[in-house]
Amino acid sequence: MRPTLIAGNWKMNGSLQSVIELVEGIKAGEAGKVKLVVCPPAVYLMKVGGMLDGTDIALGAQNVCDAQAGAYTGEISATMLKECGCEYAIVGHSERRALYQESDELVAHRFAMAVASGITPILCVGESLEERELGVTEAVVARQLDAVIEQQGIAALVQSVIAYEPVWAIGTGKVATPEQAQAVHEFIRHKLAALDQQVAERIQILYGGSMNATNAGDLLSKPDIDGGLIGGASLKAVDFLAIGQSV
Ligand code: 13P
Repeated sequence: MRPTLIAGNWKMNGSLQSVIELVEGIKAGEAGKVKLVVCPPAVYLMKVGGMLDGTDIALGAQNVCDAQAGAYTGEISATMLKECGCEYAIVGHSERRALYQESDELVAHRFAMAVASGITPILCVGESLEERELGVTEAVVARQLDAVIEQQGIAALVQSVIAYEPVWAIGTGKVATPEQAQAVHEFIRHKLAALDQQVAERIQILYGGSMNATNAGDLLSKPDIDGGLIGGASLKAVDFLAIGQSV
């Protein structure tokens, strides 16, 4: 059995005060049997990392630079994230791909930098509404995965998490049905199994896209859905914890 991972992607939300309150709320509550990860905006990583010391809650970054150090204004290296206490880093979020033109190749480089620093990348993949309607969901997800596999090799995925986030379900309140999500998760696992059975069996595949305490139980009961990457519902401690308790 793969352990369930519930990760909160806070995106560019909150203030120092609200972030402190959110972390205090999560620490004070009961997460159930799941592993929790929180991914605050980068400027709050040190603060949140300090607050999480001595707890089982892990810290994650929302992105990581594809280079080690140097003239990359605005970027943050994997080593710096590691120093802040990050155990995870999201890479290839659809908002990064769409709003900041991050290519499959760039995402693969970011993935590699995380792995090289001992940070577990949470690799996001997923199709747009147009792509789903065209029937190319699997082709899109396969292309996004292949960019990493071809550059880094299948073995690099041992140290990673995949998040299937259909773009049409992100922040829209339109959640994929458990069957729709399971079908893509199963496709991903089968694709990996064709290359490495062990990687496929061990890798955690999270679902992301309007997951909340009401729909999480059904989604997480599916055999290939090993957790969630939560946006909106991770911004309130009770809502975030309720997702963990629904397992
Ligand atoms: P929502 O849960 O707000 O739909 O966001 C999902 C997401 O993008 C997590 O990375």
